[in-house]
Amino acid sequence: MEAVHGNSNLETKKGKRLILFPAPLQGHINPVIQLANILHAKGFDIIIVHTKFNSIDQSKYPHFTFHSIQDGLLEHEASTSDVVDLMIKLNGNCVQPFGECLANLLSDGQTKPVISCLIIDSFWYFTRELGDRFKLPILAFRTVSVCSALAFNSLLLFQKLGYLSKPDSELEEEIPEFPPLRMKDIPVIKSRYPDGIFKLISSILESNRAASGLIFNSFRELEEPALTKISQECQSPTFAIGPFLKYFPASPSSLMEPDQSAIHWLNKQAPKSVIYVSFGSTVHLNEAQMSEVASVIANSVRPFLWVVRPGLVRNSFRVENLLNGFLEAVNRRVHIVNWAPQQEVLAHPAIGGFWTHSGWNSTLESICEGVPMICSPFYGDQLINSRFVNDVWKIGLRVEKGLVKGEIERVIERLMDEKEGKEIRERVLSYKEKINACTEEGGSSQQSLQGLIDRILSF
Ligand code: UDX
Repeated sequence: MEAVHGNSNLETKKGKRLILFPAPLQGHINPVIQLANILHAKGFDIIIVHTKFNSIDQSKYPHFTFHSIQDGLLEHEASTSDVVDLMIKLNGNCVQPFGECLANLLSDGQTKPVISCLIIDSFWYFTRELGDRFKLPILAFRTVSVCSALAFNSLLLFQKLGYLSKPDSELEEEIPEFPPLRMKDIPVIKSRYPDGIFKLISSILESNRAASGLIFNSFRELEEPALTKISQECQSPTFAIGPFLKYFPASPSSLMEPDQSAIHWLNKQAPKSVIYVSFGSTVHLNEAQMSEVASVIANSVRPFLWVVRPGLVRNSFRVENLLNGFLEAVNRRVHIVNWAPQQEVLAHPAIGGFWTHSGWNSTLESICEGVPMICSPFYGDQLINSRFVNDVWKIGLRVEKGLVKGEIERVIERLMDEKEGKEIRERVLSYKEKINACTEEGGSSQQSLQGLIDRILSF
C-alpha cells in the first residue's frame, strides 16, 4: 500500500470538514469510503451521510463522523435489482431528509470547524439544488471509468442517431462517433421505466456540469484522451487520483463477510494456475446462464475459485441442487465461496486470470495486481470497460457472444495457454508498474490529488 504523500498543508486543513455522500450500492460504497480515507489522511475531517438502506458499518471507521438519513424505501423497493428505478426513487425520497441533515450540519458552524464542500456520488443529482440553496460547493465523484462516463454522457446522442434501435445484424458495427465501441456496447440499463436511464443520465450530466470539479477513480496513464474530453464536455476541472486501492483497501466496506477459506485453498494451488470467477455484487444470472458457467468450470481441467454470492441466481433452491451435484463432480479442483476477499485473492500468486463481469472496481483491482481478464460483461459500464480492456488497453479478452460455453472455453485457452495470452499478461503487468509510478510522490495521480486538495482549500 502506498502512503498518501505530501502532508505539508496539514495544518491549513485542520478545521476543514468535508461531507461525503455515497450511493448505497456495494460498487459505490467501496470507492467513496476509500476516497474518504484518502482525504482524511490529508488532514480533513470527514462526515459521511448515508441512507438506512445498505447502511455502512460505522464501527469500522471510528475516525469518521456518520449521519444516517431515512430513505423512505419500502421493503420490496429495497430488494429490487432495477438500479435505475432505485436511484430515481432515492433521489426523490432523500431530498427532505438530506436537506435537513445538511441544514443541521451547517448550523454547527459556530461551534465546529467550517464545512468546505460536499462530495457526492454522481448518482445523487438531487443535491445540486441543495448546494445552490446552502451555497455549498459540490464535487462530483463518478465511480465509473472515464471512458464509461463519456459513453453514458453520449446516450442521448446515440438515441437521437437511432443507434438504440439497430437490428441484430448491425450490432457488431463500430459507432462512428465513439470508436472502438460497437453498437451492442451502448450502455443502456434496462429498467421498468422505459425512459429511466435517460432521465438518470441527463440529470447526472447536468449536475456534473454544475459541479465545482469531477473526481475519478482512474489514472492519467490509462485514460488520458477520455480525461481531456470529459473536462471539455463538462467544463469542470477533473481529478484522476486513482486507483484508490493503492492507498486504502476496499474490503473493510464489504457488505458481506469475505470467506478466508479462499486464501487457504489458493495457498495449495500452483502459481498462476487458478481462474478466479466473480461477477460482482449486482449482476443476476438466469438458470441457463448459471448452468453454462458451471459447465465451463466442470469441463475444464484447471482450478477455479468461484464466487456464488447469495442471490446471484434468483431461484436459490435450484442453484443449490445444481451446485451439490456439481461439487461432487469437480472434487477439489474448484472452490466455491459466497463472497471472497477479492483484493487479497487477486494479489495471490496462484491466480492466473480473472473471469469478471468488468465492473470498474474489479477491473482496477485486476490491473493493480497485474492479472489478465476474461470479460463477460452484462450491462451498463461493464460493456464499455470490457471493450477498452479488449480493444484499447489489450489487457484481457472479451467474450463477445454472452455466456456461451464454446466461446468462453476458447477465450480461456487463448489467455492461459497461447502466445497472445502471454502478451496480454505482459501488458497488464506494465500497467501495474505504471500504477505504482503514478501513485508515488510526483506521479500523475499524486499530482491530481494535490490539485483536488488545492481546489477544496480554495472554496
Ligand atoms: C456496480 C456495477 O455492476 C459496476 O459495473 C460499476 O462499475 C460499479 O457498480 P459491482 O457489480 O459490485 O458494481 O462491481 P465492481 O465495480 O467490480 O465492484 C465489486 C466490488 O466488490 C469490488 O471492490 C470487489 O473487490 C468486491 N468483491 C466482489 C468482493 O470483495 N468479494 C467478492 O466476492 C466479489
